[in-house]
Order: sequence, then structure tokens, then C-alpha cells
Amino acid sequence: MVAGYSGKEVENLERLIDQNIAVFVGPIDKYVTAGSEFKPLDFGRKAQYFTLDVITNLAYGKAFGYLATDSDAYDYIKTVEETLPAAMMARKEVPASGGAVFGEDADVFGPERWLDSPLEKIREQEKTLEIIFAFGKYQCLGRNVALMDLNKVFVELFRRFDFSVVDPQKPIGNNTCMATFAIYNFWVAVTRLGEGLL
Ligand code: HEM
Repeated sequence: MVAGYSGKEVENLERLIDQNIAVFVGPIDKYVTAGSEFKPLDFGRKAQYFTLDVITNLAYGKAFGYLATDSDAYDYIKTVEETLPAAMMARKEVPASGGAVFGEDADVFGPERWLDSPLEKIREQEKTLEIIFAFGKYQCLGRNVALMDLNKVFVELFRRFDFSVVDPQKPIGNNTCMATFAIYNFWVAVTRLGEGLL
């Protein structure tokens, strides 16, 4: 399992990820808001489809086609939601992001934390952040794949599109952790870079 999920047994891992990213990013064109036409996109759902396409592509050699069909292929998401034991459904509150490491303004978007801090501080921040993948016996086997995805996908999205949250008062509907994080109703308006909303 380690070799499969870490991508070590997968030939052309990077190309495979690139292909899935293209299937994710390309169709976002359909949601571009131009003029008075408003076509919001549920980014939470699309990101879920992308993740599942990458994982099924790695595991079975062929993506199940969540993005291609723009649907919950084989009702996987529905089944997981319905069948996970109640205990798993209990919300796990993510602990406050640790003012001790990131400072009192931990919730504020501040990329300079990673650019201007001393090397020692950056290492401490990185080690703290890595807890997201767990440690030891239960650590995430897909860490390398996930990082490759994340390093590529935002570049591909943000070089083409601009995203604005539809309802800044309530940016996401629900944010649950059922063995995996799931974000629901993350509605965004998409504009092509260089074009403004009228
Ligand atoms: C940012 C994305 C991801 C995060 C934050 C993440 C996080 C985690 C965490 C915290 C666990 C341990 C769960 C537990 O406590 O039992 C885990 C397990 C696992 N993850 Fe991930 N994961 C991510 C992406 C992926 C991807 C893309 C794959 C597959 C390609 C993957 C495959 C796995 C597997 C197979 C396990 C089970 C390991 C085992 O129990 O032996 N993960 N992940």
C-alpha cells in the first residue's frame, strides 16, 4: 500500500497528476462569470472530485471520472456519508492553530511568515504544519502525492482565474472531518484573469 499511495509504484506519477489537474482546471471555464451572467462554482465539491479522481487513478490505473462526469461517480461520496458510523461523523474540532508557534495573528493570511522569518522559525512552523499528515504508524501514505497536487494545482488555477467568495459572511456551509476533511457549499464566483466583474 505504501508504494501505491506514495506514488512509488506508479509510472509517470507527475504526468498522471498533470492530466488530472488539466481535467480539473479546464472545465472551470464553464463557470466564468461575465457581465450579468452569474455562474457560481462549488469549489468544495469540485476539489473533492479532483482528490477522488487522483486517488482512484493511482489505485486502479484509471480515474473513476468524478470530474469528467461532474458527478459523484458510483455514489461513493453519498455512500461514505451514509455509512460511516456515527462515531466517525462526530465533528473533530481542529485545535486552535497554535498562537505559540504562529503568533496571535495565526488566523490571518500572512505568507511573509514563510519568507521573512529566521530559518529556525520557518523549520518550527513547517514541523507544526506537518502534523496535518499525522505521524508514526498512522501517518498519511499519500503525503507526497498530496504535496505534488497542491504545489501544482493552485498555480494552474490562479494563473488563469480569479476567485471571489460568494458570501463572505459565510464562506463555507459545512466543514466536517470524517476520517477526511470535507468542505461543503464553498461557493465562489470565477472570473478570467484580466477581466473584472461588471
Ligand atoms: C492534504 C491532503 C491530505 C491530508 C491532510 C492527509 C492526512 C492524512 C491523515 C491525518 C492520515 C491519518 C489518519 C488516521 O489518523 O488514521 C492519513 C492517512 C492516509 N492517507 Fe492521507 N492525507 C492527504 C492526502 C492523501 C492522498 C492524496 C492520499 C492517496 C494518494 C492519501 C492516502 C492516505 C492513506 C492510504 C492513509 C492511511 C494510512 C494507514 O492507515 O496506513 N492521503 N492521511
